Amino acid sequence: MLTIALSKGKLFHPILKLFHKAGYGTSGLTAETRKLLLPCLKKDVTFLIVRSSDVPTYVEYGAADVGIVGKDVLLEQDSDVYEPLDLKIGACRISVAVLQGQESRDSLSSKIRVATKYPKVTERYFNQRGIPVEIIKLYGSVELAPIVRLSDRIVDLVETGNTLKAHNLIETEVIAESTARLIVNRASLKLKHRTLTALIDALRRCVKTNSRNFSRSRGRLKSLGKAGGSVRTR
Ligand code: PRP
Repeated sequence: MLTIALSKGKLFHPILKLFHKAGYGTSGLTAETRKLLLPCLKKDVTFLIVRSSDVPTYVEYGAADVGIVGKDVLLEQDSDVYEPLDLKIGACRISVAVLQGQESRDSLSSKIRVATKYPKVTERYFNQRGIPVEIIKLYGSVELAPIVRLSDRIVDLVETGNTLKAHNLIETEVIAESTARLIVNRASLKLKHRTLTALIDALRRCVKTNSRNFSRSRGRLKSLGKAGGSVRTR
């Protein structure tokens, strides 16, 4: 029996699709469900629905054998878990951003105030550069902070860049790239080696197929672009 911790964020739907493809589908698992514990249809697997920042805790303490979580959360939490697979979905980055026109405003003699959901990542990043910072921990809507003068800069997750743009913010540095990762409890990996290897292999095959399909359609779009000159790829 395996227990898998998932969270209902942006990664929820692509992760469900991936598990379904890998043969670990569950019918009751939708974004709307209030249930926090759901069985898999075909395998001896139970899904737990937890907050994304709690996924590493469930896995580290063995309450879940496996978890799916963004690399951004792992970088912030430094949990003692095994990280065998990059699921290559939910690509985004942790970046520094500043209000347009204020890029060079920080004086080096005083501390820069940085608002963020990632205090440890932020502290590490600025410490390594010898820049003194005062970190203001927020739990969401971080883009508001410079607008209402709570901070000089923000460190936040950027995916499309639309939220930054909508708030007149400029991305000045990328601290780290992030994608969804499969994490595994270290003891479970030994005790449930066969079942876990089967799950990891099944997911790895799906990730490979997804990447191949993505490269093919990207190639097709590029050649269409060359022919017509108007198709854009990211
Ligand atoms: C995340 C992040 C940004 C936004 C970036 O917030 O903190 O606000 O997504 O996405 P974009 O680059 O595609 O615009 P989330 O939606 O998780 O909500 P939150 O601010 O409440 O944490």
